[in-house]
Parts: sequence; structure tokens; C-alpha cells
Amino acid sequence: RTVRIIGAPMDYGANRRGVDMGPSAIRYADLADRLAEADVEPVDDGDLTMPRAEERDPDADQPTDGNAKFLREVEDVCRRVSDRVAATLADGEFPLVLGGDHSVAIGSLAGSAREADLGAIWFDAHADINTPETSPSGNVHGMPLAAALGHGSFGETEWAPAPRLQASSIAYVGLRSIDDRERELLRESELTVFTMSDIDQRGVSSVVEDALAVATDGTDGVHVSLDLDWLDPKTAPGVGTPVRGGVTYREAHAALEALSRRDRADDVLRSMDVVEVNPILDEGNETATLAAELTASTFGKRIF
Ligand code: ARG
Ligand code: MN
Ligand code: MN
Ligand code: MN
Repeated sequence: RTVRIIGAPMDYGANRRGVDMGPSAIRYADLADRLAEADVEPVDDGDLTMPRAEERDPDADQPTDGNAKFLREVEDVCRRVSDRVAATLADGEFPLVLGGDHSVAIGSLAGSAREADLGAIWFDAHADINTPETSPSGNVHGMPLAAALGHGSFGETEWAPAPRLQASSIAYVGLRSIDDRERELLRESELTVFTMSDIDQRGVSSVVEDALAVATDGTDGVHVSLDLDWLDPKTAPGVGTPVRGGVTYREAHAALEALSRRDRADDVLRSMDVVEVNPILDEGNETATLAAELTASTFGKRIF
């Protein structure tokens, strides 16, 4: 199948500190060649252009209230990511969005859930379900799932909510940093939470199988969101919000290979984003290389 690479060098969701160079770094780590080895045909759309914050109209209306930095810029980018993802799917191709910070997932989820009931698996240290009202930082990369589900003031916008994504079809894998307000919400919500502790106790492959069961039940396809801070910072140092105690190199590959096995059998995967690679904080491009390797594993790259 054809995998269309959509670069979204967004850093507005993470305080503008280097994560905009993620798409270049992942391409430089031979993403296209690795995908070709996985037996898919990569087509690179290049990068979306990012608005310059310095040029925005100070009098323009704020799309939502509350504490969300650069929300107008995030909206502008996510509308275009969403359109590009939806158009790629309409052409029968697989959209692969390269971030950029995790706020780009607002666009990929909205686009992927336009014409299909969508499930999602969220590989992340963080829950990313703050609203502009609950966020401790104001950084929109901590909010994409709240946006997609229309929580808080995101519910008053038409660009943020993903049209056909239900909380009950979303599973987290590997959480280890949850803000207090997020924890309260997750306890009452229908999202499925697998923490690092679940991985410790049951092994990553079995946890991913459960996550797949959640995301495929009653849906037409699964969106995979891979935040590189899901991995342990010793393995993936090039991220802006590292949290110790993440998955190892082997666990990460095993997890994404489990996705690919299931996809081979049932064609369940629909769209993906790979986010939060920050080359300024990286060591010798190893986090971007890992991102490229893990993406190839998701599309079925095998050594034998
Ligand atoms: N929970 C914190 C916040 O909302 C950190 C979020 C980090 N998110 C990420 N995609 N790296 O600010
Ligand atoms: Mn994260
Ligand atoms: Mn994230
Ligand atoms: Mn598919």
C-alpha cells in the first residue's frame, strides 16, 4: 500500500523549542528507505507551511477562551492537517503525519474520523487530555485528546472535535505522567488506560492486544499516535517533556510489531502520527532514528 508522508513542523503546541525540526530529522534517518523495506510505497508530500506567530493579526478573535498558547496557529495548522489526512484516505492511501508537537494529532484525528468510526491507540508518557481550562502549562500538545473529544471550550469550536471518535474507542499504552485534573477526568471517562505498571505486570504485547481490542471494537479503523516520550528518555532523549521509567527499545518494537501483525490479518490500521521528536535535545539523531525504525515496524518491517 501507499503511505503518504505529511510533514507538520509545528512547535506552537510545545512552546516553540525545536520540535519543528522533527520531520526533517525523521526523514534524515531514512524513513522512506525503511518504509520501502517494510514493503509499502512511501510518497512524501513534504511539509505543510507553518504560520509565523510574529505576523498574526493581534485583533483577530480568539477561537476559544482560556489558557491555551498559540491556539490560533494550532487551529490553522490542524485544519490543514485534517484536510490532507482526509484527502489521503479518500485516495485509498495511508496518511502518516510527522510532527511537530503532539497538537498536530488534533488535525490527524479530525481528518481520519471524518468518513469512518475511528478507534485510537495513544502511545505516550502523558494523557494529553487537558483542556484550555485545566492545563497547568497552557501548551496545546497536552490537549489533543480533549480537543478531539470536544471537552471544555474545544466543544464550542467546529475544527477541534473529531467527528466520529468516541472515548470508549481510545486506549492509552504506557502512561506514567498524569495531571491531577486529568486523573479525575480519566476515572470518570470511558477511555481505557494502560499504564507502565500494566506493561510491567503483563508484558507489552498482551497490553497492546487489549488496546487493539478496545480500538477495533465497533470501529472502521485505528489511528496510531506515537509520542516519542513514550520511550524511556535513556533510549529517546530527544523529546521536550521526558519522563523517566518508559518502555525500552525492545518493548517499543514488540508493541508496534504487534500492531503490524494484527493489521496484516485484519487490515485495521488507518492513520498514524509520529510526534515530539526534538533534534535540538537529541543525541546524534538517535530519537529520530528510533522514530523511523518504529514506524517501519508498524508497517511490517521484519528481519526474516
Ligand atoms: N500534562 C502536561 C501538560 O499538559 C504535559 C503534556 C505533554 N504532552 C506531550 N505531548 N508531550 O502540559
Ligand atoms: Mn508525551
Ligand atoms: Mn503526547
Ligand atoms: Mn488499513
